[in-house]
Amino acid sequence: MLSERLKMVADMVDKCRFVADIGTDHAYLPIYLIKNGIAGRAVAADISSGSCKKALDNIRRSGLEDYIEVRCGNGLEVMTEDEIPDTIVISGMGGMLAIDVLKSHKCGSLAPCLVLQVQRDICAVRKHIISSGYKIKAEDMLREDGKLYTAISAVKGRDTEYTELEYMFGRYLLKSKAPLLREYIEYEHKKILNVLSRLEKMDGEDIKKRRTELERLSVLQKEALECL
Ligand SMILES: C[S@@+](CC[C@H](N)C(=O)[O-])C[C@H]1O[C@@H](n2cnc3c(N)ncnc32)[C@H](O)[C@@H]1O
Repeated sequence: MLSERLKMVADMVDKCRFVADIGTDHAYLPIYLIKNGIAGRAVAADISSGSCKKALDNIRRSGLEDYIEVRCGNGLEVMTEDEIPDTIVISGMGGMLAIDVLKSHKCGSLAPCLVLQVQRDICAVRKHIISSGYKIKAEDMLREDGKLYTAISAVKGRDTEYTELEYMFGRYLLKSKAPLLREYIEYEHKKILNVLSRLEKMDGEDIKKRRTELERLSVLQKEALECL
């Protein structure tokens, strides 16, 4: 029932008492975590009432309504004042939205563990969680239906300072020379070169600034590729 992407996310969740899956949609993830004894109980939350209904139907079909509570609302605002899940999972959202979700309740910077799989702006997510007092414990990548996905697990704690390259591409992915990381950077590098070639024919102060920033990113990408 779990896609390979969701299985990668589930594999990053350590055994715990209480997990919150924010943006759960179909609730496949908490159903898997409870069924496999990885979590004792779960909140499956979503802002969409349609998704909450879908989640509830799937949870009932699995006979897990005593273990998984569906809550409809924005981000972590569905948690009560002093509720702090052992693990918060946010998967399948954009990075900036995931950051907003983490900021939406104090438990977004207090929960002992975070497992995050975001579709873009992953650098901003790494920066946000590290500045909120988390230490990245592991990262993983996979390809599903031709798309590359990255998942991050983090625990409360401090790490040695990250370099810009590590924020962009992940300390563990760089260290382990993750095979899909090269593919990801090469793809992103081509995108930047395409934009730069379009901007070449254009003038203006904003264009110049954009070009300088893209050139800087392109140098960092090349640097990362040399490490792999
Ligand atoms: C693409 S689905 C991901 C579903 C599942 N987590 C996964 O990884 O397959 C994103 C879900 O996030 C929900 N969502 C978007 N913004 C949200 C927010 N601010 N708070 C809670 N859920 C949100 C959407 O309604 C949608 O069901």
